[in-house]
Amino acid sequence: MDMVNIALPKGRLGEKVYNLLKSAGYPCPAIEAESRKLVFENPEAGVRYFWVKPSDVAIYVERGAADVGVAGKDILLEYGPDVYELADLGLGRCRMCVAAKKDFRDRRDRTLRVATKFPHIAGRYYAGQGRDIDIIQLNGSIEIAPILGLSDVIVDIVETGKTLLENDLEPRETIVPISARLIANKVSYKFKHRQISALCGRVQEQASPRLP
Ligand code: PRP
Repeated sequence: MDMVNIALPKGRLGEKVYNLLKSAGYPCPAIEAESRKLVFENPEAGVRYFWVKPSDVAIYVERGAADVGVAGKDILLEYGPDVYELADLGLGRCRMCVAAKKDFRDRRDRTLRVATKFPHIAGRYYAGQGRDIDIIQLNGSIEIAPILGLSDVIVDIVETGKTLLENDLEPRETIVPISARLIANKVSYKFKHRQISALCGRVQEQASPRLP
């Protein structure tokens, strides 16, 4: 039987995702041992896991190097990969927000300078409001931009709100709630349909909150 190739986002979210898959019946003992390896397989469970950079998961899945993967809704909205979104895993919940310095007063007659790692999400959001913006694309530590006067606002992910708070910024608007999604390559979904739909069903059973 063909194994299902699964791209996991390296890091905290990936560990939670692996634990979910494990409890759904797809364990891989090798992955649990401390190591720098990136590929692990468990033929008995029919799975091969890869650790990849979270923002790259959708690329592996879109091109078929992985059959399925787990990516944040932020990445799916930003890059619009041509994949199937099979399930909301309810992990990695956060929201995409506009945030600004506490004393920032917006003037709608001025072009708004927006620093972000998500230029498409920000662009669409402000286009929907008919607002002219100047996007400043950064790769991380976005919160610094308004502090140094590089931008008026930021569009970024807020989870606990701690990073904003500790940098004297505040959330102003929520653009969209975000969580981790199980995605599948379109060709794999057809040719490994039985395995992928079984995996999706079992994972969803584990992911959904149990009723008392
Ligand atoms: C994300 C996001 C915020 C922070 C929000 O950063 O860009 O900086 O988490 O979390 P909080 O609301 O719980 O404080 P990440 O760790 O991905 O790093 P980077 O964006 O600076 O690369």
